[in-house]
Amino acid sequence: MQERTEHDTVSYTVENRIAWVSFNRPEKRNCMSPSLNRRMKEVLDELEFREDVGVLVLTGEGTAFSAGMDLKEYFRENEEKGLGHVRKAQREAYGWWERLRWYEKPTIAMINGWCFGGAYGPLFGCDLAVAAEDAQFGLSEINWGILPGGGASKIIVELTGFRNAMYHAMMGENIDGRKAAEWGLVNEAVPADKLRERVTEVATVLLGKNPVALRGTKWAIRRVSEMTFDNSMDYLVRTQEAANFYDAEGRKEATRQFIDDKTYKPGLGAYDLNKAR
Ligand code: ACO
Repeated sequence: MQERTEHDTVSYTVENRIAWVSFNRPEKRNCMSPSLNRRMKEVLDELEFREDVGVLVLTGEGTAFSAGMDLKEYFRENEEKGLGHVRKAQREAYGWWERLRWYEKPTIAMINGWCFGGAYGPLFGCDLAVAAEDAQFGLSEINWGILPGGGASKIIVELTGFRNAMYHAMMGENIDGRKAAEWGLVNEAVPADKLRERVTEVATVLLGKNPVALRGTKWAIRRVSEMTFDNSMDYLVRTQEAANFYDAEGRKEATRQFIDDKTYKPGLGAYDLNKAR
C-alpha cells in the first residue's frame, strides 16, 4: 500500500451538526504516529468554532478505535534520534489530548474496536464514551515492558478505582466493552451494529441543550474532580456568573417557557432553544 499522507491519517465528516472524526490508519489499527497526532490537532482546531458543529464524535476506521502509540514511528524512531525528538513527539500527542479535555464543544468517544494504552488519553479526553460490547480495552504496556505513561495510569485509577486499575495495569489482560462500562471506563456498551445509532441519539440530545451551559458544565465536572469542596463551590459560582456574561438570555427564556408559557418542564427535558426571543 502507498504511504498514507499526514493529511489522510485523520478523516472527518459533518452531518446534522455532528462532526464524526476518525483515526484513519486502519491498516495500522489506528495506532498514533507523530503524523497522526499533528493532523488530529489541526482537525480539532478546524472544527472547534465551526457554526455547523455542535458535537464532536471521535472514532476509528476499521477494526480499531486506536491500538495506542505507534511502537515504530512514535517510540523507536524518536528514541533513536534522541531526547529532543522524544519530547517533541510527546508534546504533539499530549497536546491534542489536552485540547480534547478542554474542548469548547461536547465530545463523545465511540469505541468501535481495539483501544490500547495511549488511546486512553483521547478516551478520557472525550466527555462521554460509548463502546461496542465486543470492543477490547487493554493497558498492554506491561506486555512489552513499559509502565502505562502518557496519563494512562492516572486515567485508569481515576475512572475505575484502585483495585480494577491495579489489576488492569499489572495483568495486561483485555476487557470487553461490557466490562469497560461496568468499570466506568465508558458510559455504556451496546451491540456493535447499534453503536452509531446510539451515539447519534446521545449527540442529538446534547445538540438540544444550551451550548454555553453545556461547555460550563463539562469544564466544571473536570475541574471540581481535582478541587476541595470549598474551592469547588467558589469555582462554580464564578463559572455560572461568567456563563451569564456569554448567554444573558438563555436562562431567562427557559424560566419563561416553564413558568409563564408552561410549554416545557425542566425536569423532563431541555427548553426550546429556537424560541429564544
Ligand atoms: N504500533 C505500531 N504498529 C502497530 C501497532 C502499534 N501500536 N498496532 C498495530 N500495528 C501494526 C502492526 O505492526 C501491523 O503492521 P504490518 O501490517 O506492517 O505488519 C498492522 O498494524 C496490523 O496489525 P496486526 O497485529 O496484524 O493486526 P491484528 O488485527 O491481528 O491485531 C492488535 C490487532 C491486537 C491491536 C495488534 O496489532 C496489537 O497488539 N497491537 C499493539 C497494541 C499495543 O500494545 N499498543 C501499545 C499500547 S501501549 C502505548 O500506547 C503506550
